[in-house]
Amino acid sequence: MCGIIGFSGYIDAEKVVLEGLKELEYRGYDSAGIALQREDSDIPYIVKKTGPVKELEKAVLENRVESFCGIGHTRWATHGGVTDVNAHPHHIGKVVLIHNGIIENYQELINSYELKDKLISETDSEVACHILNYYYEKTKDPFESIKRTVGVIIGSYSFCIMFSDIKDTIFSIRNVSPLVAASCDKGSFIASDVTALIQYSKKYFVLPEKVIAEIKKTGIELRSPDGKKVEPDYLTVDWDVEAAQKAGYPHFMIKEINEQPDALERTVRPRIVSGMTDFSGDNIPDSLFTDCSRIIIIACGTANYAGTVGKSIFEPLLKIPVNVYIASEYRYEDVITDKNTLCIVISQSGETVDTLEAMKLASQKGAKTLAIVNVKASTIAREADYVLYTHAGPEISVASTKAYTVQLAALYLLAAKMGELRGCLTNDEASEFTKAIENISDTVKKVLEYVPAQCKHVSETMIKSKDAFYIGRGLDYAFSLEGALKLKEISYIHAEACAAGELKHGTIALIEKDTPVVAIATQKKIFAKTLSNVKEVKARGAFVILISRGDEEIAEETCDILIKIPSMDDRFAVFAVAVILQLIAYYTADGKGFNVDKPRNLAKSVTVE
Ligand code: M6R
Repeated sequence: MCGIIGFSGYIDAEKVVLEGLKELEYRGYDSAGIALQREDSDIPYIVKKTGPVKELEKAVLENRVESFCGIGHTRWATHGGVTDVNAHPHHIGKVVLIHNGIIENYQELINSYELKDKLISETDSEVACHILNYYYEKTKDPFESIKRTVGVIIGSYSFCIMFSDIKDTIFSIRNVSPLVAASCDKGSFIASDVTALIQYSKKYFVLPEKVIAEIKKTGIELRSPDGKKVEPDYLTVDWDVEAAQKAGYPHFMIKEINEQPDALERTVRPRIVSGMTDFSGDNIPDSLFTDCSRIIIIACGTANYAGTVGKSIFEPLLKIPVNVYIASEYRYEDVITDKNTLCIVISQSGETVDTLEAMKLASQKGAKTLAIVNVKASTIAREADYVLYTHAGPEISVASTKAYTVQLAALYLLAAKMGELRGCLTNDEASEFTKAIENISDTVKKVLEYVPAQCKHVSETMIKSKDAFYIGRGLDYAFSLEGALKLKEISYIHAEACAAGELKHGTIALIEKDTPVVAIATQKKIFAKTLSNVKEVKARGAFVILISRGDEEIAEETCDILIKIPSMDDRFAVFAVAVILQLIAYYTADGKGFNVDKPRNLAKSVTVE
């Protein structure tokens, strides 16, 4: 959500900024803009355009300028519609500014700084630009003016700022919204995430909150608001540039689906020592797992659905209450949370603001927090008491696939460890459970070999439909939630998950001739029950796609398409089912000709509430 790139250095700034914006496109945006300092003038070259970065690039290249310092932005509209004027950068007086985040008190600021008649756009960001220009005119001091500006702002922000009378320098500051920075022999860079920097440097740092960065071609200096020098904590990216490229696949989504066996290996292997689950490499003490009497799982979207599967695994095993909360709901509900609560938050990006704030709240209420996160050193990872990194590598497609299955694997590892430590599993059982986790990667590999053709076949029916339903019971219902989300977010088909037993209480009214129903029936103990529900929808004309176990006898007339998963311990079926549901969604969206990796209105990293 909103992408920021800034560069000051020795090579063509226009190229660096435009390339950086292309790398950040996956975050989701609806307009883009660029500001370049000119070598021969104090007036910055600013171009802003709605639509894709390639449209901006076309417009920028119509009028080339020589520049070695510039900033660029992809905007995901919050305050004000998708227009060229509302796009960033904003330029007021000597200040050029881009912003990611939300200025919550912008209306009050408009009143107190008498900006009503001065505003050109409808954005909260322009308000910050005016205030900064006001203080800069007053103080002539970039640090002082930035300090005073952020001093009156309530909300989240990452700012990249250029002053037209300060050459080759970008100033940055952030609160909540992410920014990372790096330097190399080509110059210095600042960006919303490392994908925009990795081609220049694998060494980077996260800009500490409320610290002012002065980004010059010779390097980056950090100062706290009281003027003290701050030393950055350097990190190293543990994946290569190629990991964030399509590598011959038509889309990132299908590449990422196919990367799942390796991602699962990377997440699971290091945590199995002598056949048992072991988190000592993650510095997680056993007491975290033994000292709690309740678990709450907090996340959004796909990560939340991973949590829903987690609940169905944890609760019967650990015999303690486990509840899953949507982060934005947890924040405003008075959920029982105390010092006996283990709060597990799940986030691919580690930047989802609702998840972050919910985690902070749970911590304030006394809970211990454990974050399952994919992006190294992200805000959630830094703020949690303990972190369990998944090792999916960069996930570029907005629709989450490999990040989901590794989140599940992390939850299963936790279940094994907690089961063992709390005496809910004998040593032999814990070792058997761990062995099954070790085998997940092979299962996914096997499924990826034989299901694509069947999923493509399913997509031919999906493409023709306006609605689709996903049904299942128990764990299968948890899987169906993710299946429906996957389909709707990239194919724009209305898709709904319904607990199979609930159909008769309303949803079945929507089933008519040829309505696709994806029925998931992998759980032995409720197989017959789910099958009765399948019969009910079939009797009303539904086109049934049944996903079931290889060892289950299923009469031909039960469904229209049958996809079988390998026979395995029911609890692990989700890994096979996930791949099938991802592929159905992928082929449907691709078949409809949609931009699979960048669905409309969505952002990869949701950094506003
Ligand atoms: O980065 P996070 O895991 O915190 O993101 C949470 C959701 O926004 C995310 O899972 C979203 O639902 C997916 N892109 C859906 O595929």
